[in-house]
Amino acid sequence: MTAEIINGKEVAKNKREELGNEVAKLTQQGLTPGLVVILVGNDPASLSYIRGKQKAAEEIGVHFKLEHFEETLSETELLDVIENYNQDSRFHGILVQLPLPKHINETAVIEKISPEKDVDGFHPVNVGRMLTGQDTFLPCTPAGIVELLKITNVELTGKHVVVIGRSNLVGKPVGQLLLNENATVTYCHSRTKNLSELTKQADILIVAVGRANFIGGKDIKEGAVVIDVGVNRLENGKLCGDVHFDEAKEVASYLTPVPGGVGPMTITMLAHNTVKSAKQTLQ
Ligand code: GUN
Repeated sequence: MTAEIINGKEVAKNKREELGNEVAKLTQQGLTPGLVVILVGNDPASLSYIRGKQKAAEEIGVHFKLEHFEETLSETELLDVIENYNQDSRFHGILVQLPLPKHINETAVIEKISPEKDVDGFHPVNVGRMLTGQDTFLPCTPAGIVELLKITNVELTGKHVVVIGRSNLVGKPVGQLLLNENATVTYCHSRTKNLSELTKQADILIVAVGRANFIGGKDIKEGAVVIDVGVNRLENGKLCGDVHFDEAKEVASYLTPVPGGVGPMTITMLAHNTVKSAKQTLQ
């Protein structure tokens, strides 16, 4: 079998066009959605992700602001900055780029963001709403994955989803969202025994471990749908996923590439959440 490649870039582009039309209408009504991204320090990967977020936001017509601080910013100062944006009605979304420097408590920072502006969907209030299936800001990468599966018309009800990785950003929430879509979900992680036996049972395999080419063709069931969330930079400077693309292509029915798969959807869902937040102020 040769897999059909899921073109996340194309799906994201179409979704951004729709969002752009929506933002144009809101702007005509005097409401321009605003997003502030707060970065502490100069982590090159974070800077690169933020450039992507800015480009997508501006393309759609979302007002974007970057608050960039030195690595030495204290936790109290950061909490004050967040409080100011919680009160600032020009900004409907607040995103604090992770990871933060070691002297800052990530949990305290996430909990400081108003749940009504938490476009990352990381605040415990929003995580709880997601767990209980309520309408809320869904975390961007997991929501982007579900959107990609739906647009590709992949049946989710009753399917066995195997998620590798249990991070709060991706692994845990993506499994939860797919459970809400009536899938049967198995979580695997670094302590899982006989990993390959489990991955070979997956109708839909989601790989978010952060290790280049971690999953090979022998780990995948014939005809499975494979979603590769990994972004790893090789020594030659090229990006690659957690899944061995050439091997997986011969076994899977659908496969996301890296780059051009999940990544563009993540950024698009951030813009989606910002627009959603702005619209909620009209209610
Ligand atoms: N760092 C890597 N991915 C993310 C993300 O989705 N949100 C935030 N805030 N930081 C990140």
